[in-house]
Parts: sequence; structure tokens; C-alpha cells
Amino acid sequence: MTSRLFNLVMALYLALPGVAAAQMSPSEQRGQTFVRANCSNCHAIDRVSASPLKVAPPFRELHRRYPVESFQEALLEGIRTGHVNMPEFRLDPDQASDVVAYLKTLER
Ligand code: HEC
Repeated sequence: MTSRLFNLVMALYLALPGVAAAQMSPSEQRGQTFVRANCSNCHAIDRVSASPLKVAPPFRELHRRYPVESFQEALLEGIRTGHVNMPEFRLDPDQASDVVAYLKTLER
């Protein structure tokens, strides 16, 4: 492979996350901002990394356990998993639907 082609491939690769972010809707972006600020200390919120807190499921795996829509209600009522390490959160309806919108982007 010529180094020129290699550079082109690398440039595309590096540009991709930016492209993906640009394709998110405003609601999805707000959801991402919210989970980055409030959840990412423990949960992996992207497609690749491991959760900082091992027992916290990466968000990209949640949809394998339940439809992510079902979290909307849980987020409104306050998530309590019975796990001491997990703080209780209560979101307002707009925040909850933004978070669910973001979670859905991880299923694509
Ligand atoms: C201080 C660490 C911590 C933070 C911050 C945190 N979580 Fe968790 N979360 C956990 C742990 C630990 C578990 C696993 C609990 C268990 O298996 O009992 C968990 C589990 C979950 C689950 C799975 C629940 C289930 O029944 O399987 C969801 C959904 C979840 N968290 C959402 C969130 C959201 C949304 C945020 C941000 C608003 C958040 N978490 C922030 C630690 C955290």
C-alpha cells in the first residue's frame, strides 16, 4: 500500500467520529451530553470502551437486555437497581427522551 493511500485511509478513519456526531439529531446530542456528564464515570457510553466501573453495564449492551424505550419510564421514576454503587437519578421528561434517543444510536 502506498503511503498516500494509507494517509487517506487514516484521514477518513479519524474523520468518522466527527461525521457520526454531526449526523446525530439535537435530541441525541443532548442525550449524549447528559450521559457523558452523569453516567460515564461508571458506564461506558460509547461503542467500544469498557465501563470504568466493571459491574456497570456498558450502555451499548442495554438494548440486549430490554428495549431501551422501557428505560424512559425508569429514568423518570428514578433508576434504582438495588445496587449501592448506583446513585438514584430522576430525569425530567425531555431529558429522559434525549437519553433514550442517544441509547438508540448505539444500536445502529
Ligand atoms: C456511581 C456509578 C454509576 C453511575 C454514575 C451510574 N450508574 Fe448505572 N449502574 C451502575 C452499576 C454498578 C450498575 C449495575 C447494577 C446491578 O447490576 O445491580 C448500573 C446499572 C445501570 C442500568 C441497568 C439496570 C438494570 O436493571 O439492568 C442502567 C439502565 C443504568 N445503570 C443507567 C444509568 C444512567 C442512565 C446513568 C446516568 C444518569 C447511570 N446509570 C449512572 C453504576 C452507576
